[in-house]
Amino acid sequence: MPLPVPSPTSTAVVTGASSGIGAQIALELARRGHGVCLVARRADKLEEVAAQLRSLRVRAEILTADLSQRSARAELPARVEELGLVLDVLVNNAGLSTLGRVSRSDPAAEMQMIEIDVVAVADLCSRVLPGMVERGRGAVLNVASTAAFQPLPGQAGYGACKAFVLSYTHSLAGELRGTGVSATALCPGPVDTGFGETAGFTGEEANGALPRFMWRGAAEVARAGVEGMASGQVVVIPGVANQVGAAIGYLTPRRLLVPMLAARHPGVRR
Ligand SMILES: NC(=O)c1ccc[n+]([C@@H]2O[C@H](COP(=O)([O-])OP(=O)(O)OC[C@H]3O[C@@H](n4cnc5c(N)ncnc54)[C@H](OP(=O)(O)O)[C@@H]3O)[C@@H](O)[C@H]2O)c1
Repeated sequence: MPLPVPSPTSTAVVTGASSGIGAQIALELARRGHGVCLVARRADKLEEVAAQLRSLRVRAEILTADLSQRSARAELPARVEELGLVLDVLVNNAGLSTLGRVSRSDPAAEMQMIEIDVVAVADLCSRVLPGMVERGRGAVLNVASTAAFQPLPGQAGYGACKAFVLSYTHSLAGELRGTGVSATALCPGPVDTGFGETAGFTGEEANGALPRFMWRGAAEVARAGVEGMASGQVVVIPGVANQVGAAIGYLTPRRLLVPMLAARHPGVRR
C-alpha cells in the first residue's frame, strides 16, 4: 500500500523529530513532498530540523510536547487540526532506554520509558487511526528495534517495550487490511545517535556491545523505514547483518540465548 499522496493540507506527524532517526525520517518524508509536524520536547532542536525541511519547500510545523504526559498526547490531534492540516502519516519514533539490572533500577525511570516507548505508541495510534480509516487513507510507522526479537538482560524493560511495538504493529497491519491504511514496524539494529548516551552507555561500552558491521547510519535507517512504509512492508530491518541477527535472536532457544546475552551485556556486567 503506497504512502498517501502529499498535499498542501496533509501532514506527517513525526515524534522524536528533534534528533537522530526521527529527524532523518522527517527529512526523508520532506524529500518526498510531505509536510511534517515535528514533535519532541526540545524546541531549539526542532527549529533546526524545521529549517532544513522548509529549505525543501515543504510545510514544517513544530509541536513541542512531552509525550510522557497523557494530556500532551491527548491534545496532539487537535493541535494538528487547528493548523488546518489532515494527519495522513503518523511516525511513532520517540523512544529511550534505561540501562542496568532491574534489581538496581529507578522505578520512575522505568515507568518513564514505558510511558514513551509503549503507552504513547498505543495512545497516538488509537487517537489517529479512526480518522485515517474513515478517510480510507493513511500510514503508520512505529519504530521498534532488533531488540524486539529477543529478551535483552541489561535492558530488560527496553527489550520488552520494543517487543510490544513489534507485536502491536503486526496486529495493526492485520486489522487494517483493505482499509487503505498501512502499519509498518521499523526495527533498526545499532545506530549512532544520542540514544546510547541517554541510556547511559559509555562510548566504549556502546562500541563494544555489538560488532561495527551491524551499525547503520540514521539517514540510511530512516530511508529504509520510509521506503518500507511506501511499499506496504509490515516489518523493516535495515541491513543484512541485522536481519540475520534478528532471526538468530528470534529462533535461538531462550535457555541458551539469555545466559549468553546476560554474560556479555554491559548493563549486567557493571
Ligand atoms: N539508536 C539506536 O541504536 C536505536 C536502535 C534501535 C531502535 N532505536 C529507536 O529509535 C528511536 C529513535 O531513537 P534515536 O536513536 O534517534 O535516539 P535519540 O537521538 O536519543 O532520539 C530520541 C528522540 O525521542 C525524543 N523524546 C524522548 N523523550 C521524549 C518525551 N518525553 N517526549 C517527547 N519526545 C521525547 C527526543 O526528543 P527530546 O529530547 O527533544 O524530547 C528525541 O527526539 C527510539 O524509539 C529508539 O528506541 C534506536
